[in-house]
Amino acid sequence: MKDRLEVMLRDGTPVIVRPLVEEDRAVVAESYRRLSPEARYHRFWTRTGEMLGDALLDRLVHQGPNHMTWAVLDPARELPGLGAASWWRDVNDESHAEVSASVLDRDQGRGVGTLLFAVLWLTAMRAGISRMTGYTLVENRRAARWLINCGGDGEWDGYKLAFHWDLNNLDCLPETHTAADLASWLADLSPVLLEG
Ligand SMILES: CC(C)(COP(=O)(O)OP(=O)(O)OC[C@H]1O[C@@H](n2cnc3c(N)ncnc32)[C@H](O)[C@@H]1OP(=O)(O)O)[C@@H](O)C(=O)NCCC(=O)NCCS
Repeated sequence: MKDRLEVMLRDGTPVIVRPLVEEDRAVVAESYRRLSPEARYHRFWTRTGEMLGDALLDRLVHQGPNHMTWAVLDPARELPGLGAASWWRDVNDESHAEVSASVLDRDQGRGVGTLLFAVLWLTAMRAGISRMTGYTLVENRRAARWLINCGGDGEWDGYKLAFHWDLNNLDCLPETHTAADLASWLADLSPVLLEG
């Protein structure tokens, strides 16, 4: 599997998509610091301030068979990170993973999240995962709408929203431009991430 992709965002910006590595610690910590308090809370569900703890940093930059975090980077920028997304295999069910994503506030709405979601989909499938779940807080309407537009089958568990995907079923994708973008990334990237 190729682990460094060079692609273009829909506005023509060339970006690199690759898993985070140990050397990215400083960039990840600074990107986290620059997230708005709201975006940080929506992704991590805690108001712990601007510092990302070492334990979570460790988890994000070390990849393995049960976890991957991929990032979208613009090398032309002083701080190259635009966003990152992870899947974490379920310890009780190896065919299932939890997914999460975070895009810097100023880069939201540029298609970065949808590109990362396609990468998670394909790399999780390659690792033998066939179902994914993403969670959002009920008030996080933007993420909920995005996850629905990415084909997530949502339910409220009384505390948070859970969105489910069957990775073998592309018929779940609705007729939205976000889903069309997702389908197009899946088609473009599957030869390198799934079959390569
Ligand atoms: C949720 C989140 C990850 C989405 O990432 P993003 O990079 O903004 O997502 P995208 O740009 O790919 O898609 C979002 C919006 O862009 C717009 N968009 C997507 N494709 C488009 C296209 N082809 N043309 C025009 N607009 C488009 C849409 O408005 C879309 O929103 P909608 O699908 O809800 O209508 C991001 O908002 C975020 O980091 N939020 C804070 C953290 C968080 O909530 N994480 C929880 C997620 S598990």
